[in-house]
Amino acid sequence: MCGIVGYAGGRSALDVVVAGLRRLEYRGYDSAGIAVLADGGLAAAKKAGKLANLEELLEGQPLPAGSTGIGHTRWATHGGPTDLNAHPHLDNAGRVAVVHNGIIENFAALRAELAERGHALESETDTEVVAHLLAEQFSSSADLAEAMRQVCRRLDGAFTLVAVHADEPDVVVGARRNSPLVVGVGQGENFLASDVAAFIAYTREAIELGQDQVVELRRDTVTVTDFEGKPAEVRPYHVDWDVSAAEKGGYDYFMLKEIAEQPKAVADTLLGRIGTDGRLTLDELRMPDRLLREIDKIVIVACGTAFHAGMIAKYAIEHWTRVPCEVELASEFRYRDPILDQRTLVVAISQSGETMDTLMALRHAREQGSKVLAICNTNGSTIPRESDAVLYTHAGPEVAVASTKAFLTQVVACYLVALYLGQVRGTKWGDEITGVIRELSEISTQVEQVLETMEPVRELARSLKDKNTVLFLGRHVGYPVALEGALKLKELAYMHAEGFAAGELKHGPIALIEKDLPVVVVVPSPRGRSVLHDKIVSNIQEIRARGARTIVIAEEGDEAVVPYADHLIRIPRTPVLLQPLVATVPLQVFACELATARGNEVDQPRNLAKSVTVE
Ligand code: AGP
Repeated sequence: MCGIVGYAGGRSALDVVVAGLRRLEYRGYDSAGIAVLADGGLAAAKKAGKLANLEELLEGQPLPAGSTGIGHTRWATHGGPTDLNAHPHLDNAGRVAVVHNGIIENFAALRAELAERGHALESETDTEVVAHLLAEQFSSSADLAEAMRQVCRRLDGAFTLVAVHADEPDVVVGARRNSPLVVGVGQGENFLASDVAAFIAYTREAIELGQDQVVELRRDTVTVTDFEGKPAEVRPYHVDWDVSAAEKGGYDYFMLKEIAEQPKAVADTLLGRIGTDGRLTLDELRMPDRLLREIDKIVIVACGTAFHAGMIAKYAIEHWTRVPCEVELASEFRYRDPILDQRTLVVAISQSGETMDTLMALRHAREQGSKVLAICNTNGSTIPRESDAVLYTHAGPEVAVASTKAFLTQVVACYLVALYLGQVRGTKWGDEITGVIRELSEISTQVEQVLETMEPVRELARSLKDKNTVLFLGRHVGYPVALEGALKLKELAYMHAEGFAAGELKHGPIALIEKDLPVVVVVPSPRGRSVLHDKIVSNIQEIRARGARTIVIAEEGDEAVVPYADHLIRIPRTPVLLQPLVATVPLQVFACELATARGNEVDQPRNLAKSVTVE
């Protein structure tokens, strides 16, 4: 998820674009860059790090004044957060500049093609290929909008592109497929941006661009077509949000926005990793298949929510690969003198990539000769840098302290690693992997379905705002989900919340059950492992018989739970191992709503930091 701004009008393009990027910096802050059309040419500047680094660069090396320009704040996916990888990317002649949000799946093939035609590409990004392709197409069309349409027809994946060409000094061209792009319509000036926060200081009249559309922006005209060049229907609207709400996409909290972004985050994490033959392509792992065949143990190290993702991964890894898998709290790992050697693969899961406990754990593992694979959401952060390989989750920046979309994408990334291991080691056959991938690909839609049915969960949460304790029960992969639900409630509502393996109830925790005590139960599917399902239905009966208020999360069609559920939350049917991806969402919404009902600060809960960089 990156921030994009385009401008054509009468003001200083640099001032408007930089101000817009500042409003979008929450969308990405690995690097920033700008290109301005002036004096018949194109001038660009870009810098790794926060926007302030670019502004400092521009102080010392100002760009020529121009009233047409584009800018970008990056959240790195392909290629680390360096000056070279920062956007905009230019063609070799320096006549085209392009910025991009998304993932171009077929960039490697396009890059090879361009190299054969003599183009010299210098960055590690997927985006750069677009600058060179646009330059080629423009040389024949002499029309940037037409060149963009022709290039977009060659791209696979999700992308928002915005470009300028020195030969069309008053034009900005944008295109979108699966990533957001919105037009701001001013008086004698027009804007393009990833979201309205970038331009509502100038205009509140907007046009939402649709799928597979190209927009040509001049100071007085906005022309929208489809990728074939046919005029497209557009939907103008008035923006009512204030700037703060705009940065949150209209939500009250970043956490709510990030919960809503989960379908796209899951889809983006799968994007580009499934070959046309249905096999996985995790080339970015850069861990030789030979090594993956030799490992005889996997140890996952992580903290908090990331640890819960690791617990879920254990079930999938052992089931799909038959490689023993341990999951360890990073803060405990190195102090127990773990048994590690060169055939142990340590997997470090971290959203921020800076968690000191996890970093120290991976350093210990490497000292013992083990290889380390990082699963991380922050490109170029310390943990992937110190690991032997990395699989990035593509959740985009997660601003709220309470992790939501990062968690779901960590689980998806763990599934991908498990499937890839199965594929490489031959313990999972092509047709099975294709089947699981197909089921994984449906999850994004199923998460969307869950999000559409959350109002009863919010009402329930508000009704419980004065409670002191909520317990969470689960079995199998529902057990880590119960732990995650409890953690969300602890860190957001500041109340006692505890997760248990439901089978443990009779070994002590059932003594906690008393009248009207809310207990959330995550029920496994009755299909397949029905014995687990029957046991947890018995658990629900046991606690209800002792007065508990049962809040049951169960899949559609599961009627066995109905007589014992005081509150029934339905989730879509999924394969057993994939259920956490839909069962967790109601628990996120529940915790967020209960915290709000208690008047708590949701995005920055007390005592907590987004990244814990101390041991
Ligand atoms: C989760 O909601 C918390 N913010 C916390 O448990 C977090 O998951 C943990 O600190 C690990 O952070 P990381 O993923 O950035 O390493």
